[in-house]
Amino acid sequence: MPSVLVTGAAGLLGGHVVALLSKAFDVIGCDRHPWWGDQPARMLIRDLLEPGAIADVVAAVNPALIIHCAALVDVDGCEQDPAGAFLCNTRMSGDLARAAPPRCLVVYISSDGLFRGDTANAEEDDVPEPATVYARAKLEGERLIQQATPHHLVVRTNFYGWSSGRKRTFGEWLYASLQTERAVRLFTDFWFTPIYVVDFVHRLKLLIERGARGVVHLGGRERLSKHDFGVLLARAAGFSTDVIVPWSLAKGGLAAPRPRDMSLSSARFERMTGVSVPRCADGLRRFLRDRERPLSRRVDELEEGFPGQAVVAPSAQTGV
Ligand SMILES: NC(=O)c1ccc[n+]([C@@H]2O[C@H](COP(=O)([O-])OP(=O)(O)OC[C@H]3O[C@@H](n4cnc5c(N)ncnc54)[C@H](OP(=O)(O)O)[C@@H]3O)[C@@H](O)[C@H]2O)c1
Repeated sequence: MPSVLVTGAAGLLGGHVVALLSKAFDVIGCDRHPWWGDQPARMLIRDLLEPGAIADVVAAVNPALIIHCAALVDVDGCEQDPAGAFLCNTRMSGDLARAAPPRCLVVYISSDGLFRGDTANAEEDDVPEPATVYARAKLEGERLIQQATPHHLVVRTNFYGWSSGRKRTFGEWLYASLQTERAVRLFTDFWFTPIYVVDFVHRLKLLIERGARGVVHLGGRERLSKHDFGVLLARAAGFSTDVIVPWSLAKGGLAAPRPRDMSLSSARFERMTGVSVPRCADGLRRFLRDRERPLSRRVDELEEGFPGQAVVAPSAQTGV
C-alpha cells in the first residue's frame, strides 16, 4: 500500500482526510496537535517549521502522496503577522515539496480568496490578484510547489464542517449562534461557494484516483452570500432566522480587507471527474446529520449514487 503523508492532520480538513484515506492507504498524519478522531491513526506530532522537521518526517514516511493541509488559516491573524504567514503558508510549502521523494504527488490545499473579487465564479485560468496577506502567502505557496515538482495538484476551495473543537470554525460558530438565538451579523455582499468538508474529501480522493494534476477549483454548486448561507443553515436546522442581521462589508467588522466575491467555478472538476459538486442544501443536511457522529462514520456514508451520480460527461483526459 502506498504511504500517504497528511500535514495539518489534526485540523478540520486534515482530520477528515486522514479518516477517509486510512480506509484505503497507509496514512501517517503530522501536526503540532494530537489526533482527535475515533479510529486509531498514526501521527507524528511535530512542528514542521522546526529545523530538520520536514526532512525527518518525509524520511520517516517515504510518501507516494502528500496532502498538505497544514497552514495558518486565520486571515486576520496573518494580516497582523505577515512574516509568520509567509513562513508557514509559503516557505514551509515549498520546503515540503522540495523534500518530497521523486514522483511523489504533492497535493496543496489552497484558497478561494486569491482573486480580485469583482466577478463571480472564478475559473482556474483567471489571473489571481490577492488582496490579503493570507491569500498572497497561499498563492506564493502554490507557486513554490509548482516550481518544485511537476507532480502537483493544487485544489482551491472553501469548506465548512465539525472540527476537533480546539478552534471554532465559521460553520460551528454560526450553528452555535443560531441554536442559542444570539444575534449574528452576516454579509449580504460577500459571496462564496462553500462545500461541506466530507463532500470535499470524497471528491478530493476522486481527483487523486483519476490522476488529476495542475490547478482545480472545488467548491459547492451555488454562489451564496454569507447571509444566504446563514438563512439556509437556520432553515435546515429548524432554527429561527430572526437573529440573522443582514450586514454589509461597507459597515465593517473585518480586520483584513476581503475580496467581495470569492465564489469559484467547479466546472473543471466536473469535466475531469464526471461527478457534480453538491447543492448547498444537501451539504448542510449532511453537516447537520454528522454533528453527533464520530469522525469515522461521517466519511463512511457516501452521497447517494456517488461517484456514479454523474451529471456531466467524464472527460477523456484527467490531466489539466
Ligand atoms: N477552512 C477553509 O474554508 C479553507 C479555505 C481555503 C483553503 N483552506 C486551506 O485548507 C487547509 C486546511 O485548513 P483547515 O481549515 O483544516 O485549517 P486548520 O483546522 O487550522 O488545520 C491546519 C492544522 O495545521 C496545523 N499546523 C499549522 N502549522 C503547522 C506547522 N508548522 N507544523 C505542524 N502543524 C501545523 C495547525 O495547527 P495550529 O492550529 O496550531 O496552527 C492545524 O492543526 C489549509 O491549507 C488552508 O489554507 C481552508
